[in-house]
Amino acid sequence: MGCGILTSMKELRASVEWRDGHLEVIDQTALPARLEVRRLETVAGVVAAIREMVVRGAPVIGVCGAFAMVLGLGERKPATAAGAHRELELLSAEIGAARPTAVNLSWAVRRVAEAAARGGTVEEVRRLALAQALRIQEEDRESCRRIADFGRAELARVSRVMTHCNTGRLATSGIGTALGIVYAKAEAGEPVEVIATETRPLLQGSRLTAWELMDAGIPVTLVPDSATGPALAAGRAEVVIVGCDRVALSGATANKIGTYNLATVARANGIPFYVAGPMTSFDPQLEDGSRIPIEQRPAAELRRFDVTPPDLITAFITDVGVLRPPFAQSIARAIDQAQRLGLR
Ligand code: MRU
Repeated sequence: MGCGILTSMKELRASVEWRDGHLEVIDQTALPARLEVRRLETVAGVVAAIREMVVRGAPVIGVCGAFAMVLGLGERKPATAAGAHRELELLSAEIGAARPTAVNLSWAVRRVAEAAARGGTVEEVRRLALAQALRIQEEDRESCRRIADFGRAELARVSRVMTHCNTGRLATSGIGTALGIVYAKAEAGEPVEVIATETRPLLQGSRLTAWELMDAGIPVTLVPDSATGPALAAGRAEVVIVGCDRVALSGATANKIGTYNLATVARANGIPFYVAGPMTSFDPQLEDGSRIPIEQRPAAELRRFDVTPPDLITAFITDVGVLRPPFAQSIARAIDQAQRLGLR
């Protein structure tokens, strides 16, 4: 991939790549301002990148987790094959806990640990672990293609799609899941356009999906999450397609917050609601949705404020008048005045 700033996803094979013993990932927190590749060389680095959503999207965090297992073997330098197997068990617990809801992550790290358990020497354990991580990535790419083909056949007559969060090239090693269907339609020359929800609080829809589709030249309209009802009632989309983080055997589906609301609004308007995802997002251990671990994100993601420097502010319009620079004086005077007037 090569580190640095790029201009288009078209310059990349995938949003995550294993290169010369380290991982290169697109920093999804920097988009849409910058398309920047970040290098991850340690387990702690990958775990932090997954937690902070530098990399996000169920399939791609599974792929990153798998490669983090290989990084972990390099860092911890076990002396024997048995030691390497023990380290992989510890690593799979540590890395698998980075984000709890998307089952792809715990599935991928378990799969690497199990495949490498056949290794009889430290070197062989590492080789098997790396081969398995590369295979998981390749399978993710192929799954996207299969989802896209099934989706295109299922939705052959549909051209206006509403989606939530980001399920595209950024979220997978391939062309995406829900968005993969859109890409497949576009590739086949079929008319297709997307209504992307903003996806609060971290705006994966506006920062990532809208950007990704514009980068690919596919028409996209952004709506606030709260406008999906009127948009569907007005017939702006013929179908809703979302991704998934974990699907229970009952079909109960955990996905980005807001998905349940969107499904409810789709049902109220008679619009089909599809969930697109690889089988690695299905959890055979869970009968229904009640025991899906739901990730609680830091409250700061919702309530964080920014600070505007005073030199960018022309004036404050307050209940004691307009306060102009220099603010150190005008604000102090206004506070005195407010106190005299009983306004604070
Ligand atoms: O919290 P995120 O941004 O990782 O949420 C991702 C989603 O909700 C996706 O729909 C899901 O991971 C599938 S991505 C193909």
